[in-house]
Amino acid sequence: MQDKMQKIISLCKRRGFVFVSSEIYGGFSAIYDLGPLGVELANNIKRVWWKSMVQEREDIVGLDSCIFMHPKTWEASGHVTGFSDPLAECKECHTRLRADHLLEEVGIRADEKMSEEEIAEIFKKNKEKIKCPNCQEKGNFTDVKKFNLLVKSNLGNFTDDWQKEPSYLRGETCQGIYLNFKNVLSSSRMKIPFGVAQIGKAFRNEITARQFIFRTREFEQMEMQYFCSPQEEMQEYEKLRKFRWQWYIDLGITQENLKWHQHENLVFYAKEAYDIEYNFPFGFSEIEGIHARGDYDLTQHSKFSKQDLSYVDHRTNEIYIPHIIEASSGVGRIMLAFLCDAYSEEGDRIVLKLKPALASYKVAVFPLLANKPELVAKAREVFEMLKTDFTCAWDDRGNIGKRYYSQDEIGTPFCITVDFQTLQDQTVTIRDRDTTQQERIKISELKSILEKK
Ligand code: GAP
Repeated sequence: MQDKMQKIISLCKRRGFVFVSSEIYGGFSAIYDLGPLGVELANNIKRVWWKSMVQEREDIVGLDSCIFMHPKTWEASGHVTGFSDPLAECKECHTRLRADHLLEEVGIRADEKMSEEEIAEIFKKNKEKIKCPNCQEKGNFTDVKKFNLLVKSNLGNFTDDWQKEPSYLRGETCQGIYLNFKNVLSSSRMKIPFGVAQIGKAFRNEITARQFIFRTREFEQMEMQYFCSPQEEMQEYEKLRKFRWQWYIDLGITQENLKWHQHENLVFYAKEAYDIEYNFPFGFSEIEGIHARGDYDLTQHSKFSKQDLSYVDHRTNEIYIPHIIEASSGVGRIMLAFLCDAYSEEGDRIVLKLKPALASYKVAVFPLLANKPELVAKAREVFEMLKTDFTCAWDDRGNIGKRYYSQDEIGTPFCITVDFQTLQDQTVTIRDRDTTQQERIKISELKSILEKK
């Protein structure tokens, strides 16, 4: 299965989905850039998410808060003291490693959401079995200690000792939603229950970078926070779980490759927490967290900001701090899941069977022969006609078979060829990526047929 992962990594580089950041300087660990096809795929993921989360929902609005927030935000949220991973250091080669990941390597599941104390205890008991992945030394590790994941900066601080009072790059996007709760309420007609969604960058000083774009230090999150009364929290939570699961199914993810993982170790304020996991080549791993967070977030921000964040419910005249349920996912992780799910090999053909809504290019247009100006001109005409409505690729290199294979590999669902018959009767062939069947259709009907497909 790791072999499949290597093939996907190589496809991503070869065809321009994902590049290692700063590659000409030897790369920058756990940071990746999106190439020309990757940015299209990521934009499509974000677009369909936004459409289902905001555009099609009367009860959810959007927001775009900044990466930087008042540093108190992160004290209130608990990130300054509690947002850490368990770190162990190899005493031989001094490589710093995540203790829970080392335990997983020897088959001991250390839940990401377990307390550090618990993980430290389990690590101590089992460390003789564990090898350093760098120098292979066995059992020679320091005790586990907490390593805070917040990324610090000197933004707005012009002193040399800014480290004492840093500002933070946000570790999750949802805090910007909490801080704007009252602004959204007073500027819109939203009434509880309602949600606020946003997509944006988040940063975490992850100790170990693993599995390509699965775990990176800079990544993009898509988060929706739903504010509700204490009584309706769990009912809304169940609705949200179903809604988010269906999103993946509608986008073509193989159902057997998805599963729920219920957190056994809930943080003290949480009512319930489930992750949606995808069956990556390296095993089932989280792509989205769906959590019932109680009134923790707004209570904390109310306490730290000394602002009243309570809500008067006009349905019951009750006054309460709204409870929050959230759906939180990462664009990169979801993109990797879609790539893994869509990747298939059929004989010597590699095909990315992405749903058309996700595919980087929807259509590719080819002139049958590049050295026949009349074919090239007609194909250009078709390309120009389609490009305003569909993301189109143009290809006139090599033979048609090679061009089909090249588009299959990046997931383009339809290829259109302009040939000599086109010049006679204004028809083209349209070839389906998944069936490889070709149909001849009128140019005048192309747009409507593609829209339907
Ligand atoms: N507000 C809740 C929250 O941030 P999380 O489980 O820490 O919860 C939510 O993160 C999602 O963000 C994950 O399911 C994953 O898709 C994505 N994510 C988290 N850390 C990531 C990382 N280092 N690299 C890529 N994606 C990450």
